[in-house]
Amino acid sequence: MTQVVTTIDEVRALVRTWRAQGDTVGLVPTMGYLHEGHASLITRSVAENARTVVSVFVNPTQFGPNEDLESYPRDLERDVALVEKCGADVVFHPTPEEMYFPDRCTTVHVEGLGKELCGKSRPIHFDGVCLVVSKLLNITTPDRAYFGQKDAQQLLIVRRMVRDLSMGVQVVGCPIVREEDGLAKSSRNTYLSAEERAAAVVLSKSLAAGRAVLEGGERSAAAVCDAVRAVLASEPLAAPEYVEVVSTDTVTPVERVEGEVLCAIAVRIGNTRLIDNFFYNPNE
Ligand code: PAF
Repeated sequence: MTQVVTTIDEVRALVRTWRAQGDTVGLVPTMGYLHEGHASLITRSVAENARTVVSVFVNPTQFGPNEDLESYPRDLERDVALVEKCGADVVFHPTPEEMYFPDRCTTVHVEGLGKELCGKSRPIHFDGVCLVVSKLLNITTPDRAYFGQKDAQQLLIVRRMVRDLSMGVQVVGCPIVREEDGLAKSSRNTYLSAEERAAAVVLSKSLAAGRAVLEGGERSAAAVCDAVRAVLASEPLAAPEYVEVVSTDTVTPVERVEGEVLCAIAVRIGNTRLIDNFFYNPNE
């Protein structure tokens, strides 16, 4: 039976009990409104750890002033049912007041990696993510923490933060889960009208075109981006925000694909901003 706890003290007490029994602990941080992408992270954590905590917290510090904090979809009852089905032990669902002191003055900033891609239009986003993820890791002290590759820049930043701060948790990146037509699963897909939902398939199609260019032996990042942009241009409802090929080490654009890269896009379909990506390493 999945237990729902709302306070830091409660979740700490549970983890203490588990640790005393020699249990390993996995953490799956989420903002709720869970879908099959989250389910894949939870199922993996359940398979790899004796205990799993799923945090459900719409984190205010990672939303900019004109973003969708208030309208972000929420359904705790449905989330708990899904967590229970996946076999996790606890849903940690704190209030913003439980998580943040009104006079907090500590920030967690990973220099450089958050400047490009989503960082350009969401300048405070990754500091908010790093702050809440640090807190969740400090509260639950897991052996492993699970993040989806759909938020690839987030995954790279969290990995670097954990390494730089010697946090002693293994960050596990998990593959993107897609709808049948290729659209990456996302809580924000619920914002799409039927017409926009049909148009949104263009994101994964455009990335497939970019990957095909690389698999054909091309090493120019501009050629990859051109192939992606050409497919996006075929969909009138798609307004690309960025199409980039970046180094997975620095998250800055590369000219040539020589080591591992991330090809990442952000596209507005109507009012909804969607992201998608793939990793590619020419040496593998
Ligand atoms: O990926 C998300 O859902 C959020 O950014 C995270 C990692 C739960 C932090 O709020």
